[in-house]
Amino acid sequence: MEIVICESTEEAARRAARAVVDALAVRPQAVLALPTGNTPRPVYAELVRLHAAGGVSFARATVFNLDEYLGLPAGHPASFRRFLSEALLQHVDLPAQRAHAPSATEANLDVAAAAYERAIAEAEGIDLALLGIGRNGHIAFNEPGAPFDSRTRVVTLSDATRAANQPAFGAEPVPKQAITVGIATLLEARRCVLLATGAAKAEAVAQAFEGVVSEQVPASALRGHPNLLAVLDRAAASRLTRSPG
Ligand code: PGA
Repeated sequence: MEIVICESTEEAARRAARAVVDALAVRPQAVLALPTGNTPRPVYAELVRLHAAGGVSFARATVFNLDEYLGLPAGHPASFRRFLSEALLQHVDLPAQRAHAPSATEANLDVAAAAYERAIAEAEGIDLALLGIGRNGHIAFNEPGAPFDSRTRVVTLSDATRAANQPAFGAEPVPKQAITVGIATLLEARRCVLLATGAAKAEAVAQAFEGVVSEQVPASALRGHPNLLAVLDRAAASRLTRSPG
């Protein structure tokens, strides 16, 4: 596990973007699993900037969204598919047929979840999973209590997560359920990069990296990953007591 503490949020975003660029330099056909949320926004802005400057190409890459709310109509402003499209995919050269997102409107969601796992396997697995962390320690939408051997499936969101994500919905209620890749799906990624910025994430970061490894803190599962990079800004790192290494 490598923990990098950056002086600023912007520097942390650039460092995470560099991890994506490096993965594509080593393997232009890299399979990327990508998150939604406020934290990765500046990462995607940096990747768009680098792409425009000729510094990175997604032409041979494949992307899997980590998660999606259940039941939102296609194109809903808060949908994660739309978020990733607007933040990154519309602005880079990734072929549309290699941009995957969990199908959250199918009648049979178990079948859709199994199909998503199969699509990841058929792409020969994830080369790099970029992850955020919830204030409650969640990764993707694997909430506290999610089994470490979980796969893509339907989950119920915690009240805390729904409250944290309310601003994207305005006056509308946040869906109660989502479909998410599992913790086992993420642990099989050849590299995981967790990005956390801001003081609101400090406790979750400390629990994840210095607390007990427990299903109550989903991000703590990453300590079992052989190739994990955690990129933090000073605020998110402020409750760590051990020096990184
Ligand atoms: P955020 O979400 O980046 O909007 O804080 C992160 C997450 O919930 O995983």
